[in-house]
Amino acid sequence: MGRIILFTGKGGVGKTSVVSAHAVKSAREGVKTLLVSADMAHNIGDIFEMRIGHQPVRISENLYGLELDPDRILREEFPDAAAAFRKLMQGSGAGAAELTEYFPLPGFENLFSLLAVAKLYRSGEYDRILVDCAPVGETLSLLKLPELLSWYMEKFFPVGKTMVRFLKPLADRRYQVELPDGRAMDDIGEMHQELLKLQDLLKDPAASSVRLVCMPEKMIVEETKRCFMYLSLYRYQLDGVFINRVLPEQAEGAFLGGWRETQRQYLEELHRVFREVPVREIPWYPEEVRGMAAVGRIAGEILTDPDLFEVRARKENEYYTEIPGGYQLCLRLPGAEKGQVQVRRFSRDLDVSVDNYSRRIPLPDSLRGTEPAEILLEDGILKISFFVAGKEAAADAAGASARSGTLDPAGERGQA
Ligand SMILES: Nc1ncnc2c1ncn2[C@@H]1O[C@H](COP(=O)(O)OP(=O)(O)OP(=O)(O)O)[C@@H](O)[C@H]1O
Ligand SMILES: [Mg+2]
Repeated sequence: MGRIILFTGKGGVGKTSVVSAHAVKSAREGVKTLLVSADMAHNIGDIFEMRIGHQPVRISENLYGLELDPDRILREEFPDAAAAFRKLMQGSGAGAAELTEYFPLPGFENLFSLLAVAKLYRSGEYDRILVDCAPVGETLSLLKLPELLSWYMEKFFPVGKTMVRFLKPLADRRYQVELPDGRAMDDIGEMHQELLKLQDLLKDPAASSVRLVCMPEKMIVEETKRCFMYLSLYRYQLDGVFINRVLPEQAEGAFLGGWRETQRQYLEELHRVFREVPVREIPWYPEEVRGMAAVGRIAGEILTDPDLFEVRARKENEYYTEIPGGYQLCLRLPGAEKGQVQVRRFSRDLDVSVDNYSRRIPLPDSLRGTEPAEILLEDGILKISFFVAGKEAAADAAGASARSGTLDPAGERGQA
């Protein structure tokens, strides 16, 4: 079975260096490896000092490189849907705001890079696909899209041509935007299927995981912690943290000594926060990471764990447990604090937001008539209880004041 690892982190922290070192290590093991850049500011060509384009090129034995161009993929693979999406997004009628509320934001084309990665994976051509992603913010906006878009498609385009024929005149009037025609609908239907498969693949803990690259500095540490929380919200598996540019012990002088002290404090914090995930430190080298020898050095000196390419930290990010009188939905949100999390009910879905990141979770049929009755945040796990009428000991007290609520980790009832 193949393997996909996505690498991200704040801008400039060493993402390309670390993913490239993984790629070299993997190829040295005799495994056919594809190093993919999904960062529009491609730089795997820079690091290996060669030209890499939108077709895989051989870098060395067992190692291939590819720089994806999402615009091109969209145009070539989904031409009719591309045109329909553009029209939709250009809509400026009264309903357009409503339409665009959940419609992917600018840059959604990057999603087609992920679809291309999934396709490469399915082709079976490569045993490992290592992806150099854009910096955290952009990558998170991207990683929430497969689920959001397929949710959106299901709601907005009742997938299937006949429905569109009935719906189109109505929607044209109501939203004053043009709905896709039949051909585009075929494309959209196909894209919907692809998105569902993409989600299954990227969230399959046996195949895919995300690794974060960071540096021991305040702002980067904070961003890395938040990223872990948001990744968990969207059910991605984090299975590695690489702390880059760690000053070596022999760094001398008051200036470097001061920096080493600062780094020490953040190193401790990172090891503590990410204790459930393998964490590796990479020294600050006296020269840049450039060319096969420099990349190979990281591979040889740092990436020595025998299980480096396994999915190394599996955690269930979302699960239901049975409680007296009902069920509890548990979501792992490591590091989340009261005030960051909000839970709301929208018809048949639950909307869970952490800061500006939100996710719509469709509720199982058995819970659709119920309201979340109790919302707790305990040890980084958000617990949402539902009491089901008729289920034994129907938890009278809780049931009486059941309502949708905002989070109250103190354990009191959520406020409507
Ligand atoms: N451990 C290290 N020691 C010395 N130089 C390093 C180290 N890691 C990375 N560098 C250098 O830092 C710069 C940034 O590294 P890199 O390109 O890997 O970061 P990035 O996160 O991919 O950046 P971007 O966000 O711009 O894509 C490069 O010049 C690289 O050679
Ligand atoms: Mg880079």
